[in-house]
Amino acid sequence: MLIRNRRLRTSEAVRSLVRETAITPNDFIVPLFVVEGKNVKEEISSMPNYFRYSLDLLEKEVKELWSLGLKSVLLFVKVPDDLKDNKGTEALNKDGLMQRAVKTVKNAVPEMVVMTDVALDPYSSYGHDGIVENGRILNDPTKEVLAKMSLSHVQAGAEFVAPSDMMDGRIKTIRELLEKEGFDTAGIMSYSAKYASAFYGPFRDALDSAPGFGDKKTYQMDPANRDEAIKETLLDIEEGADIVMIKPGLCYLDIVRDIRNTVNVPVAVYQVSGEYAMIKAASEKGWLDHDAVVLEQLTAIKRAGAQMIASYFAKDAVKLL
Ligand code: PBG
Repeated sequence: MLIRNRRLRTSEAVRSLVRETAITPNDFIVPLFVVEGKNVKEEISSMPNYFRYSLDLLEKEVKELWSLGLKSVLLFVKVPDDLKDNKGTEALNKDGLMQRAVKTVKNAVPEMVVMTDVALDPYSSYGHDGIVENGRILNDPTKEVLAKMSLSHVQAGAEFVAPSDMMDGRIKTIRELLEKEGFDTAGIMSYSAKYASAFYGPFRDALDSAPGFGDKKTYQMDPANRDEAIKETLLDIEEGADIVMIKPGLCYLDIVRDIRNTVNVPVAVYQVSGEYAMIKAASEKGWLDHDAVVLEQLTAIKRAGAQMIASYFAKDAVKLL
């Protein structure tokens, strides 16, 4: 035998020399859940060891993240029921929880990259990502609200807005409003290929944002589709997206590679709440080796083509590196 592949696997030193993919703290975006109150750190029941923080504890948490080398956060807020309505009015409140959360992070760690989720669902009395009329999700009126919401987040100090709603044309509407208002350096990380996935369940527990009727299949993508992911992503780039995202991760790595091979903007992947919960549950039972599985999945996501990963495992991962 002239060629023996095992020569390149003889020791950890050799393997590390020829390793094609490495994860670093630079790769991560840390999703954070924020709630009203003081001194609140609530564990999310379907996401063991993941928490909702009140603003005072959020401050502590982001300082710790920064000290671990994690330099980017993606903020989500849990909105009290009495502030929810059909049009997401509270989302535009200058002094709303998201706007205060952005300022809190920026004050605590000014260099931290702050990204904000832009979608109506946490603010919607229907738990949908758009305005509802006669049981339908309205596209064009929703994108106007999303643009105002984005403006409000960048006014509070966010560097990137991350529209996660999948309304058509919203990137253009957001981009035009940000330009018009002078926020030409604010970035858009678009959830470009976001699938109607069953893996978002624990996240909806975290924010109490499950749809009150029906499902999200008239706006989020059909998991069976591949070409459509490219169409969605190219359109978002044309409309002014700076970073494109594929979501969820593990089941969609073929899409990640397709998109990475097609576009010339940075590609992000969201390893979602259900992916987190699966690993936690199986490792709590002793069925999987938690740390090994976490690193394997993150490495696979990066190998598939992700240049950054939004992951609930970010903190665990950097401690393991
Ligand atoms: C809101 C939003 C969702 C997620 C991110 N932003 C839920 C949904 O679309 O229903 C899911 C994230 C996760 O599961 O970790 N539009």
